[in-house]
Amino acid sequence: MLAIQGIAEAGSGHPGASFSAAEIMGVLYFHKMKHKPSDPLWEGRDYFVNSKAHSAPGFYAVLATAGYIETKEIKTLRKLGSRLQGHPVRYSERQKNHSFPGIEYSGGSEGIGLSVSIGIALAKKRDGQKNRVYTLIGDGESNEGQIWEAAMAASKFKLDNLVAILDRNKIQQDGFTEEIMPLDPVRDKWAAFNWNVVEVNGHKIEQIIDALSRVEKVEDKPSIIIANTTKGKGIKHMANNPQWHGKAPPKKHTPILLEELQSEILIAPSIIAGEPENYEEKVRRAERAGADLIHLDIMDGKFVPTTSFFADTIKHLRKISSIPFDTHLMIEKPINHVEEYIDAGCDIITVHVEACNESEFVEINKMLLKAGISPGIAINPGTQFPSWIIEHLNNIDVMIIMSVNPGFAGQKFIPDALDKMAEIVKTLKSNNYKGFIEADGGIDATTLQQVFDAGARIMVAGNAVYGSPDINSNIIQLRHKANVAIETKLLELATINDMRSDWIKSRKNMLIPLAKELSIEEDLHAIK
Ligand code: DX5
Ligand code: ZN
Repeated sequence: MLAIQGIAEAGSGHPGASFSAAEIMGVLYFHKMKHKPSDPLWEGRDYFVNSKAHSAPGFYAVLATAGYIETKEIKTLRKLGSRLQGHPVRYSERQKNHSFPGIEYSGGSEGIGLSVSIGIALAKKRDGQKNRVYTLIGDGESNEGQIWEAAMAASKFKLDNLVAILDRNKIQQDGFTEEIMPLDPVRDKWAAFNWNVVEVNGHKIEQIIDALSRVEKVEDKPSIIIANTTKGKGIKHMANNPQWHGKAPPKKHTPILLEELQSEILIAPSIIAGEPENYEEKVRRAERAGADLIHLDIMDGKFVPTTSFFADTIKHLRKISSIPFDTHLMIEKPINHVEEYIDAGCDIITVHVEACNESEFVEINKMLLKAGISPGIAINPGTQFPSWIIEHLNNIDVMIIMSVNPGFAGQKFIPDALDKMAEIVKTLKSNNYKGFIEADGGIDATTLQQVFDAGARIMVAGNAVYGSPDINSNIIQLRHKANVAIETKLLELATINDMRSDWIKSRKNMLIPLAKELSIEEDLHAIK
C-alpha cells in the first residue's frame, strides 16, 4: 500500500517489481534477518543487497514499515532532494540527511549487486563473522554477463553465507524474459555453477520461510532460491502485464487500488465436512485446487456436542502438506491443550471467547507468539463481544465471527450474523485492528459476498467444498464468487469517486468475464 501511495504521488516508478518481491522482502525483514532499524550500521547485522534496485518503492515500504524511516516519507518518492530516489542510494553516516538508513547498496545499473554481495560475504567469512548476505536479483537482470561471472566466483569462494533470491516473474522491462533472452532451464544453470538451488512459490510466505531455513544448513556452497512470482501481484490489471513494469497508476485511482490490496480473499476448506474422515485426501485435494489455508475444526464433545479429531491428526497431516493450518479449537479449557496444538505444527490457533477468560487468553497468546504462531479468537453468534479483547488487538491476527452455532458442518447460515459482523468490524476498525476477519459457518457461493461486504477476508467453507464430489470445481466456484465480490466493491468505489468508466477501461480484460454478474455490459460496449 505504501508503494502504491509513493508511486501514485510521484507519477512514476516501478509497481510491478515491487509487488512480485513483496513477500520475499517481507519475510527477510520481519522473519529472517538480524537487523536494527535504530542502528542501521550495527556490526552484527545481516545484509540485504537489492540488486534489482528498480523495486525501490516496495523496498522503501518494507524498510519504512520496519521502522528505518517514518512511513509518511514515502510520499517524497522520486522528489528532488528526497532520500527516496527512483533507485536506492546507500546509507552513509556522513550523508545522514541525504541517504536512506538500512540501504547497503546503490543500485540502478542492473547486474552488479550480486558481485557486491560476494565482496561482503567474502570479507565476513575471512573475518570469521557470522553475518549472512541476502541478494535479490531479477530475471531480466540475469541477462547481464556480470551475474554469471559472479555465479562462478561465489562458488569458487564457497560462500555458504550468501543467498541469492531470484524474483522469477518472467517479465522484464520491455516484454517476457523467455522471448527476449530465455533463462530456462534456470535451475540447471545455477546448479551447473555449483550453487545449491531451491525453488518456491515466491508469494507463499511459508515456502519462503522454509527455503530460507533449509539453505542455512548448506555448507561450502552459495544458495539460490528461485522464487516463482507474478509481476504486479495484488493489483489484477497490473499482474503479468509488461506494461506495468515502470508505469505509475493515475493518482485518482489510489483509493481504489488501496482497497483492492485490502480485499484479498483467502479460502479455507474445513475438512470435517463431507464424507467422514479421509482427512489426508481432503487436504491434498484442497491444496491442489488452490486453497489458501486448511481449516481444522477441533471439537471435544463438551464445548460443542460433537467430537472431531485432535492434535495427533494435525501432526500427521502436517507431514503431507505445507499449506498453512488454521486450527479452530472448539474445546473447553483450551489453556490446558494449546501446547499440543503448537507442537502439532499449526500456523494459526484460534480459541473461543466463551472458553477462556482474559487472563487465560493472555497466557495462551504469549505461548502462541513465542512459538511464532498467529493467535486467533472466535466468537459465537449468541455471544456479546467482550470489551477486554480491545486491549489485545495488536496481538490478534485472526478474528473468527461464527455464522452458525458451532458443532457441525453443513448448517444454515444465520442471517443475523451479518449485522453482528459489521458491528464488530466497526469496533475493530476504530481501534485500528490490522488482522483478518474470518467468516465460519454456512459460507457458500450465495453468502460469501455478504460476509465479504461485512468485512470478512478469510472464508471457511466446509459443505461448500466437501459436500459434493468435485472439490476442484467447488473451490473454483468460490474463487469466482470471491472475484465478483471484490470487483463489485471496487466498481462501487469507482462510481462514488466519479470515475466509473475510467476504472472499467483500465480493468477491461479482468471485467469482461464477469460482465453479466457485474451488470456492466453496456459500460463495456460504450468503451469499445
Ligand atoms: C462449525 C465449524 C465450521 C463449519 C464449517 O462447527 O467451526 O468450521 O463446520 O462448515 P460449513 O461451511 O459446512 O458450515
Ligand atoms: Zn471452524
